[in-house]
Amino acid sequence: FDPTALSDALPLPLYLQLARHLRTLIVEGRLTDQDALPGERELAETFGVSRVTVRKALRELIAEGLLHQRQGAGTFINRSPHVEQRLSALTSFTEDIGGRGLKPDSRWLSRSVATATPEEAMALGLRPGAEVVRLHRLRLADGTPLAIELSALPTSVLPDPDLVQGSLYETLRGRGHPPFRALQRLSAIRLPSDQATLLGVPDGAPALYIERRTFLENGTPLEFVRSHYRGDAYDFVVELSLV
Ligand code: GLP
Repeated sequence: FDPTALSDALPLPLYLQLARHLRTLIVEGRLTDQDALPGERELAETFGVSRVTVRKALRELIAEGLLHQRQGAGTFINRSPHVEQRLSALTSFTEDIGGRGLKPDSRWLSRSVATATPEEAMALGLRPGAEVVRLHRLRLADGTPLAIELSALPTSVLPDPDLVQGSLYETLRGRGHPPFRALQRLSAIRLPSDQATLLGVPDGAPALYIERRTFLENGTPLEFVRSHYRGDAYDFVVELSLV
């Protein structure tokens, strides 16, 4: 803790200055070795502010989903897995998470065979009115929700959504349709409240909206995926070179 981070001379109220300082320490992982924060009185003494100021600062960080309080036990940092993801490798969620020693998991939000929307038909190169298999999954690592993925696939490559038990990519490879190439677009968004609730973050929390179109080696479209990745849980990394 750095008490000099707070100053009466700054135009920001003290409780927001304190919230900002604690947020930085939490987000940068500098408070990792202890799960509980010091008590209100100790924080007030450390920073030379009143307990009311401390309480208001903690309330801010609880509302942001960074902290939680347990009756009589104190204030705790919310742990969430942090994933550094290479952008240039065509990997599955199961591989990404499993490769980091975390346990990948999915919760079905829905699965169906349905008529492709015009957008899905266009992305998958299907004629209007064709059928697709739609998989809507919450993706978790060690039990923590990290992403929501809505995949659409032509029924010619996946006739039945129930064929997917664990990894979609493993299922596709097993059926002789290995993903070979993909085009991916990332954009920054704020999560609408239904998605925020599923991901366990506050309404409006930052996220990456990712669209991926995956192809077979012969260029046939294989899947069209729209996903929401928690902004606080992912770093996307790409290697650049002189062309
Ligand atoms: C990643 C991709 C998705 C793909 C998924 C397959 O999360 N962003 O486009 O559908 O992997 O993952 P799995 O094989 O674990 O089902």
